[in-house]
Amino acid sequence: MPEAAHQRLRLSAEEIYTAELTALAAGDSRPRPENWRLSPPAVVTYILGGKAADGTPISAKYVGNRRLIETAVATLATDRALLLLGLPGTAKSWVSEHLAAAISGSSQRMIQCTAGTDENQIRYSWNYALLLAKGPSYEALVKTPLTRAMEDGSIVRLEELTRMGSDVQDTLITVLSEKTLPVPELDMAIDARRGFNVIATANNRDKGVNDLSSALKRRFNVVVLPSPATLEEEVGIVVKRVREIGTNLSLPPIKPADEEMTRIVTLFRELREGRTLNGKTKLKTSSGSLSTAEAISVGVSAWASAAHFGGGVLDADSLAPNLVGAVVKDPVQDTVALQEYLESVVRTRDGWSDLYNAIREVI
Ligand SMILES: Nc1ncnc2c1ncn2[C@@H]1O[C@H](COP(=O)(O)OP(=O)(O)OP(=O)(O)O)[C@@H](O)[C@H]1O
Ligand SMILES: [Mg+2]
Repeated sequence: MPEAAHQRLRLSAEEIYTAELTALAAGDSRPRPENWRLSPPAVVTYILGGKAADGTPISAKYVGNRRLIETAVATLATDRALLLLGLPGTAKSWVSEHLAAAISGSSQRMIQCTAGTDENQIRYSWNYALLLAKGPSYEALVKTPLTRAMEDGSIVRLEELTRMGSDVQDTLITVLSEKTLPVPELDMAIDARRGFNVIATANNRDKGVNDLSSALKRRFNVVVLPSPATLEEEVGIVVKRVREIGTNLSLPPIKPADEEMTRIVTLFRELREGRTLNGKTKLKTSSGSLSTAEAISVGVSAWASAAHFGGGVLDADSLAPNLVGAVVKDPVQDTVALQEYLESVVRTRDGWSDLYNAIREVI
């Protein structure tokens, strides 16, 4: 781990899980695709958890369907690229980072695609000082994470692929089908080495923005990451991630708050689906996505409030302002939805009167 790593706010997957990755690699006797650090089954164990050959426990990074992860890993071992699609907060970026860490040993080759991303940020650009001094030369080429990944035979991650313009997206077609990137100025091409592949993520909700061209779509295998199917599954994910993130942020310890996490997830699921979990009451939905990722953020913020201002106990008072902040994204419409929910559900639910009072104080 680099020096002063403890000072850094966020460590990469390969830094946090070095020990697990090393143990998996040491005991991995299955065939590995060229330039892969681990065999495909070992990558799946790294993502879903299990044991390395020497007994080292491997923590679960993703909680969900094994088949999905197997498909994702198998895709990366072929010449097709992987597109992780799903609603906001379904762990697309998270899975992509861990896949890159396990396969290439680094998750750092990443391009965040935005409406402002242009071709030069995907292909290459020029160091103008050198270009003027010496004319076009290989040294004057400024490589992008994509070109570097092609040269080392590693995974490059493209975050939010559909946010960038369709014409820029189509730059990828040659790279994905020919595995080469022509540099006409130098009359050469950058060829991809074995082990190179692309993991892109895209959000279902933004789908309409810059839909992938069919030519590009054909070059990707799509794996859809679903929202957690049941309350229990989602609570499990939230409890686990809040514990990990809070510990990593060195938040002062508090009493375990699994019940409060269950309340957060229940409230999120009910408002997201527009009805109570027992299906009896119809509700207005809120405009926010109320994803698992947001439930995790509410959990972490509530932990911080509880630890610093709430005497170390995460209760309705530390929860309420954070919940309201997450639900009310549109001050008019969402306040109405939340108020209706409060009166028709929270007020009468057994054991929720503290939450009812606490939310009423802040709304
Ligand atoms: N099934 C899951 N298993 C483990 N962690 C999960 C799961 N679902 C969500 N998370 C957690 O949610 C958090 C956010 O996930 P991430 O940022 O990858 O979402 P995303 O799908 O990329 O969202 P967006 O579309 O907003 O970019 C991560 O901390 C991740 O651990
Ligand atoms: Mg993401």
